[in-house]
Amino acid sequence: MKLGSFPVLVAAAACALACADTSRPVRPMPAASSLMLTPPFSDAKPDPQLAAMGKEIFRHDTFGDELFWTDQLRMHEVIAGGANGTVGAGGVSPKTALAVGLKVDADALPQAVKDAIAAGKVNLDDPATTLALLQLDAVVGLKGIVETTNGAPRLTRVGITCALCHSTVDNSFAPGIGHRLDGWPNRDLNVGLIVSLSPALQAAETQAVLRSWGPGKYDAYWNHDGKNNPTVIPPAFGLRHVDLETFTGEGPISYWNAYVAVTQMHGQGSFSDPRLGINVTADPDLVTPKLPALREYQRSLTAAVPPAGSFDPAAAQRGREVFASAGKCVNCHLGPALTDAGIRLHDPSETGMDPLLATRATTGKYRTTPLHGVWQHPPYFHDGSAATLWDVVQHYDKVLGLQLSDGQKHDLVEYLKAL
Ligand code: HEC
Ligand code: HEC
Repeated sequence: MKLGSFPVLVAAAACALACADTSRPVRPMPAASSLMLTPPFSDAKPDPQLAAMGKEIFRHDTFGDELFWTDQLRMHEVIAGGANGTVGAGGVSPKTALAVGLKVDADALPQAVKDAIAAGKVNLDDPATTLALLQLDAVVGLKGIVETTNGAPRLTRVGITCALCHSTVDNSFAPGIGHRLDGWPNRDLNVGLIVSLSPALQAAETQAVLRSWGPGKYDAYWNHDGKNNPTVIPPAFGLRHVDLETFTGEGPISYWNAYVAVTQMHGQGSFSDPRLGINVTADPDLVTPKLPALREYQRSLTAAVPPAGSFDPAAAQRGREVFASAGKCVNCHLGPALTDAGIRLHDPSETGMDPLLATRATTGKYRTTPLHGVWQHPPYFHDGSAATLWDVVQHYDKVLGLQLSDGQKHDLVEYLKAL
């Protein structure tokens, strides 16, 4: 795509955005205050209308975080490359964007654009193409506003949504381009590297931290405790029966959503937790009223289903026995989501985990991770210390002194792959 073809895309974008706007649910949202700190425990089926509103928020709502990503970090200039968001040589091309793990929503692309990409007629080395994709709202989790001055595009605002870290695509069109998979963690996304490009974050120590994280990892506490100890980005699916969220069981869904939206995305909202010494208030509050719908959408996201033929069913059946008996896994991985999160948390030593994250969090302990869809997101454990499910089983064999045979370990892995 050359700059010249930009107006065509702009017209298509206007249509796509208008359509999305009219289909947006308009039902007023219930007050969030009472739901905020109450665990979801209920088994109630997610309300489809509320979940549909939550889907829009999860995918498209920046909570006004442009104040941070644009005005403070100046990411619009990083992406476009030129001054004031105009296109310049140093900008981020679609190829570079895909290389740092950003994903493109093929369903947001008009057929003509898809045809042009397929025919090799779109210049994926040109930052102007990135602006066109942003204008189509096709970059997962990244919201941009592109204005055209004298025929030249200018990226004026940029912000992020939940989907940046917690969605990927199925690569059905090309690597990194396909249908959205909401709730699937983006384990390709190099958040630290992307953020390190901000002109506002060039201090040597900051650069060293951000560039150390690598793909699929993020540190949700670093900006207030200064410790560099990132976790893998977890799925936001399969949480309907999970009473406490995060690796350390910090609180229910809406507690954590508010924490991230306000303190990490830097959305305009209120969040207060005396345990962490955080008290942020915003007026208007663009986060709190959206929490119930957002929560309902996450409760509606079922875990990733293992692809056909990806495990041996007979071995998985045997592995289920190992899980329940010789492996002692059910001592902690129990109930519909295979976690005892609603009952207890665990000391790091119980599972042989590195204790640092637990000491940084409020609980001092780790939550038993829910396991459905676990095949989808290696590496495992909060710090990604187990590269494969085999490594997970080896870890437990050693720490719990299980003395499983190689056959039992193999079967257990097949069971985990089937969840
Ligand atoms: C920059 C990347 C990033 C963004 C953006 C982000 N998250 Fe997360 N999310 C994480 C990481 C990393 C964790 C793990 C934190 C931990 O457990 O200590 C996490 C944890 C979670 C969890 C807990 C999952 C579990 O198994 O307990 C949920 C739910 C969640 N995020 C939802 C959201 C929602 C909703 C938004 C938008 C308001 C959002 N996240 C925005 C990176 C992100
Ligand atoms: C004492 C309680 C306990 C027992 C017993 C236990 N687990 Fe866990 N499991 C946990 C906790 C806590 C975590 C989270 C550890 C972390 O990430 O720091 C976890 C994490 C996992 C993970 C990583 C999931 C992910 O998404 O990263 C897998 C897989 C797993 N356990 C499988 C098993 C298997 C298989 C067994 C039996 C051999 C087992 N567990 C036994 C408590 C337990």
